[in-house]
Amino acid sequence: MSAPRRNVELKATDPDPERSLEVCRELGASDEGILVQRDTYFRVPEGRLKLREQSPGDAVLIQYFRADRPEARESRYRVVPVEEAEATRHALADALGTFAVVDKERRLFLWEGVRIHLDTVRGLGSFVELEGVAHETSDLSGEHDRVAQLSEALGIDASRILSDSYSDLIAGNPSEQLIAAAREVQERAYAPYSRFRVGVALRAPDGSVHLGANVENAAYPLGNCAEASAIGALVAAGHTRIVEAAVIGDGEEPCVPCGGCRQRLREFMPLDGTVHLLADKGARATMTLEELLPRSFGPEYLP
Ligand code: THU
Repeated sequence: MSAPRRNVELKATDPDPERSLEVCRELGASDEGILVQRDTYFRVPEGRLKLREQSPGDAVLIQYFRADRPEARESRYRVVPVEEAEATRHALADALGTFAVVDKERRLFLWEGVRIHLDTVRGLGSFVELEGVAHETSDLSGEHDRVAQLSEALGIDASRILSDSYSDLIAGNPSEQLIAAAREVQERAYAPYSRFRVGVALRAPDGSVHLGANVENAAYPLGNCAEASAIGALVAAGHTRIVEAAVIGDGEEPCVPCGGCRQRLREFMPLDGTVHLLADKGARATMTLEELLPRSFGPEYLP
């Protein structure tokens, strides 16, 4: 039975990352370099559970409890090494559901037992995070002192301090919610022949989200693209307009809709509608339908 570890944490927005970098250097903090991290948060009844995949470094499962309060607060956490990251991610996503995926670049400094994170979070911006890592018997007062000292040196004022986790900020963003929904339905794709799973989420003008995954068939030509399934769900729910779409496929490259599916979207979506293209591995691109399908034919051409 491994007891949770503890630390004292503070998170704030960072309007001037260059300046923060300077301060870290002036303080003589040791520069541990840049980590590219992807945290997948799962839906859990208590606290938080995330799978961290990072480079450099190995994947870990992180479970923690932390009060959502703005001031520096205690966090109790466990970090468990994970050997098969991708299989673990799929297993937990299937069992629990994915709450949010947070992609970030982290510049890590260490100062007097405090980890200083200068984070650039995709879709959110720049942040500074302080983590005073506690010894087993600590009463946390030393950690609080050092975090306060650093917070002062970095010029972090109360208005910049955040109580939410990055996952809450991501989950509160409608485009990110749409992307998370596409990611979730991708898990349910039926693609035993191509093994290329695609998930699509479409937002209707009333804000409702409609989902589809690709559905293959042993008689290959009968397979359905995920876009077609999602459009079916949207129409079945009584809608005929799409304002935003997210498409996610397996692999390294953002999944683009096939030619036929671009035309399918064109039927229901304005040319300036936003389409997010994502790869299971993290790459993404956002563009308009017109960029995907220039000089297109649509319903307005017909009498
Ligand atoms: N696929 C889609 O679901 N949407 C696209 O736009 C591209 C392709 C699916 C169809 C098939 O099940 C698998 O990907 C391989 O072509």
